[in-house]
This record gives sequence, C-alpha cells and structure tokens, in this order.
Amino acid sequence: MNTTIIGLDKQMTASLTISLNTLLANFQVYYQNLRGLHWNIKGKSFFELHVKFEEFYTDSQEKIDVIAERILTLGGTPLHTFNDYTEVSKVPVGKNVTNDVEAVNLVVTSLSELLKVERNILEESDQAKDEGTNAMMSDLISEQEKTIWMLKAWLN
Ligand SMILES: [Fe+2]
Repeated sequence: MNTTIIGLDKQMTASLTISLNTLLANFQVYYQNLRGLHWNIKGKSFFELHVKFEEFYTDSQEKIDVIAERILTLGGTPLHTFNDYTEVSKVPVGKNVTNDVEAVNLVVTSLSELLKVERNILEESDQAKDEGTNAMMSDLISEQEKTIWMLKAWLN
C-alpha cells in the first residue's frame, strides 16, 4: 500500500513532514526572538511592546505545538533540539535588540520568512491532497498577513 493509515500518499507525506519540520524550526527561532524582545525592549513604548511581545510568543508557543503534533499525526518526528532548529531556520536571530522600531522590524522580517515556508508547504500539501495541513497553512498565512499589516501601521 502506498497510502498511510489516514489515506495520504506515503512518499508525499514523508516529504511534508520534512517541510513541516522546517516550519517548526523557523517558528522556534521566531518564538525565541519574541522572548528576547519582551525582555530587552527599552524606551517610551516599553509597556505597550513588552505586553504585545508576550501576546505574540504565547500565541506562537501554541502554534509550535500544533505544528509538532501535525508532524506526529503524519508519522514524522518533530525536531526538538536547539541545534536542529538553528541549522534549519531562516528566520534571522535577534540579539540584544532594545530599540522599538528595530524590534518591530525583526518581528515583520521573521513573519515574512514564516510566510515563505508556509506557502511552500501549502503548495506541497495541496498536491498531496492533505486537507489538514492545507487548512493549517491557510490559517497561519491569513493571520500572519494581518499581523504584518498591523505592525506596518505601527511603524507607519
Ligand atoms: Fe515576562
């Protein structure tokens, strides 16, 4: 049988779990960036951004779990070490960012990297007729596009 127990092509599913692991790694770097921004942000927007970054990382943490569990659902193993994450991730690592504009720009750049990965996965999951992953990517994409709009409005 060339299909998995949930009825998807075995080879396509195996390839999808690799792509989803790439997304997981990128999300983990994004998450860690947000923790750093939450901690290190300074200036007149401190109270606003300190809280906003916490909201973002709490939300990311849930999404990270959903992505990892999708990988498991598809029969793969989610990456779970920092080494693997930094090897695979394309999201820029933010270090000692204290400036508000720089911080928000880092979030925008990180989200645009995530969007690229998600669009690639969407193409792949579409070919594999994997509706579960399609729906997940669609939700992530539309939500992140909206967040980018709001961050851009803040940056003016
Ligand atoms: Fe905190």
